[in-house]
Parts: sequence; C-alpha cells; structure tokens
Amino acid sequence: MPIFHQQTKHSYMSVRKNAHFLDWQSQPTNHKLYPHFNQRFKIEEYEELTDLNLIGGITFEKSYPDGVYHLRSVPSAGGLFPFEVYIQVRGIKGLLDGIYHYEPHRASLTLLQEIGRDGVEHYFKDSLKQKGLVFLISSVYFRSSWKYNDRAIRYILLDVGHQLGAIYTALSLMGRENEFVFDFDKLSLNEVFGFRDDEMFMCSVRSSEASETSIDKLRQGLPFVSGCDYLETNRFIEDAYKQSAVYEEPNFNPPNFFENIPKEQLRQAIVNRRSIRAFRAQPMSDEEFWFIMGGLFQFAKEHAIDIYYTANLVTNMSQGLYKNGELLEEGDFRSKSRYLALEQNLGGQSGVTFFFTSNEAKKYQKVNILSGFLAHIIYIRSELMGIGCSGIGAYYDDECKEFLQTKNNILYLLAIGR
Ligand SMILES: Cc1cc2nc3c(=O)[nH]c(=O)nc-3n(C[C@H](O)[C@H](O)[C@H](O)COP(=O)(O)O)c2cc1C
Repeated sequence: MPIFHQQTKHSYMSVRKNAHFLDWQSQPTNHKLYPHFNQRFKIEEYEELTDLNLIGGITFEKSYPDGVYHLRSVPSAGGLFPFEVYIQVRGIKGLLDGIYHYEPHRASLTLLQEIGRDGVEHYFKDSLKQKGLVFLISSVYFRSSWKYNDRAIRYILLDVGHQLGAIYTALSLMGRENEFVFDFDKLSLNEVFGFRDDEMFMCSVRSSEASETSIDKLRQGLPFVSGCDYLETNRFIEDAYKQSAVYEEPNFNPPNFFENIPKEQLRQAIVNRRSIRAFRAQPMSDEEFWFIMGGLFQFAKEHAIDIYYTANLVTNMSQGLYKNGELLEEGDFRSKSRYLALEQNLGGQSGVTFFFTSNEAKKYQKVNILSGFLAHIIYIRSELMGIGCSGIGAYYDDECKEFLQTKNNILYLLAIGR
C-alpha cells in the first residue's frame, strides 16, 4: 500500500492527540460557481436528459440557526462534497456540442466551451469520437482537508466513488450505458481545464457511442474558476494524488445492479436516500441482506476488494465475522465493531457492518473509488428495502486489520440495518 495510506491511519492514541477545533464559520464553499454571464441550460428542458439531475441534485434542505444546508443525492464524508462533475455533450437534441459544468444547486449545465473536431476524447486511450455523454469527476480536496487534514486523501477518493455510484444509478434509471474509465490522461486534462494543484481529475464514465473518427486535442484551454472561496494548500494530498494518479486499467462496463427494479421505485430510492443517524436495533432478514448484496461480492473480488462484515442483527444468519459471503468465525461482535468504528454507535447497533479492504497498491485510487461506488449501490439497494445505511470513514486502521486477521488495508466501513 502506498506510504500515504500508512501515514493517515487512525489509532486510539492518534485520535486523542490530534483532536482539533473546527470553526464552522470558516468552512470553504462546497460548490463551484462559474460567472453569471456563462450560458446555463436547465436540465429538465431536455427530453434526453430527464433524470440527469439525479446524478447529484439537491434532495434535502436542513435549516440551522446560521443558514440552510443542502444535501444531495450523493452522500459525502462530513457533508463536504469535495468533488465536481463536468460533462461533455455531443449529439444531444437541442444542446450545443460542448463541455459543461454540472451545477447541482440550479439543476443546470453551464457551458464552458463548444467543441467540434476537438474534445476530451483526445485524452482517452482510443481518442474515438463519442456521441452522447462523457462524465469527468474531479476532486476539490480543500473542502475535505479543511476538516480532515491529511486523512482527506481517503475521503476524497471515497466521495468520488459515491459520485460515480450516483452517476451510474441515474444513468441506469435513464436506461443508458455506463462505461467506467480510470486510465486516461488525467494530468493533461487537469492542465487544459486550467486546474491548479488543488483540483484534480479522478475518473470518468462514458455513456456514449464511439465512431471511427479520432478527435483532436482541445484547441484552447477552458476557463477556470476556483472550487473554494479560499485555499490552504495541502502538499501531502497533492503529492499523494500525483503518486497514484497514473495506472493501467482497461475500461469496463459494470453489471446492471438495478435490473428488474421498477423505474419509479428506483427513482424514489435515489431521491429518498439519506444516511441513517441511529439504528433502532431491530433485525433485518437474511433475504434482505442477500437482495442488497446480490452480485456485489463477485464484482468486488474481480477488482481486488475483499468485503469482510460482522453480522450483528440478521434473522436466519449466525452472528459472526464473514468474508465475501463466507462465515469465518461465529460470535457476537457488536461491541467490537462499535469500538472499531471509532466508538460510533452506528458501527455496533447495525444489522451488518461492512469493512471494505484491499491489498492492491498500484491501483490504490481505483480500489478506493470502487469501495465508495460499491457502498453507494448498497445505500440505494438498502433504501429499496426500507433499510438504513451509513458510510463510516472513521475507524482504527490497525485494530480493524488485527480483528479481521488480514494483511489487506482497510479502506472504508459501512453500516446497514434498522
Ligand atoms: C466517505 C464517507 C464517510 C462517512 N463517514 C461517516 C462517519 O464516520 N460517521 C457518520 O456518522 N457518518 C458518516 N458519513 C455520512 C455523512 O455524514 C453523510 O453522508 C452526510 O452528512 C450527508 O448526509 P446524507 O448522506 O444523508 O445525504 C460518511 C459518508 C461518506 C460518504
């Protein structure tokens, strides 16, 4: 595993030594705003794009004494949303071919630049012209490092994975293709998009048809707007990104995890998804568990991710520790899994607490992003069953490894239940 993963572990001692005071008044802005004179297009006005706003739109408003907070179809560690989505559009009726920025707060696309024989395709391995939609997900790390310091390198990858999952789910609802691309020229694209080191591309989804024409590099750089209203540079995260951004990986189409789900039900699950804040300690059933996990263990294994879990409160399923669907050890591990999740009740009062793990070093970014993606599918499939779910990014790394008896690194925890 990369050294920066080791350097960002939590332990019982580190959490107590490094507790730092957070002044919420100093939170940086959590979404990018292009100038008012850029042309904006309301998503709902384009027939082919119906439901596209579910990739990240506002689904809930929380009022606090000092203002309203917007929650989205995507969960995010601390609700900080350290990502942005850009969409290249070609051949969508009524829309100019171009590169757009997605604005969740206005459910609109902002046109950044028109395209022709040039386009983002040039920075992909095949360079072939793509008719349809090409999504690019970037990370704006300071929104997260402002709170989590260096450990934010993990959260930004997991959050990007959730954003990937939300795009995948909305495209599935729209009946569109999903092709995941991890291996493209991110570093050159960062440059043409004018990103400084504080915003960086992580992955892409193509929902498009390729033709034989090859596409030229973008003929001019894109206008740049900062993702935060102020910035404190974090060299550790910038270096960690650079060390791990380039790796080989074939493009792939993930399986359809929402086959046979009626559209309206899926739409409701996307809109209603929230992170559960406390379990009532009521059981879920083994059938619900297997519905939620159908096909996921296999997909995870194909991508070098092992999913361990403690079954805490599931009818017809022995309490115990499991790995990829197989029982390793029977026992009541509720207080253990609570402790491992940095003593958060969510970890122990759940039906099941998952531990996403991997020993993959070279494709560190991919396994982290895919852990967020898998967690997102679990969120939505839990919602379909009326079961609660929450990501848990805070856990004691080495003690989790010891408990699971694995050399794999621990990437993410997730709790589901009632
Ligand atoms: C990567 C990640 C890590 C998270 N870690 C925790 C955690 O440790 N504890 C917790 O209570 N919630 C955690 N959450 C849930 C977030 O707090 C929640 O997503 C956010 O407040 C937005 O609310 P929503 O999911 O209901 O839209 C996590 C979410 C994500 C995506």
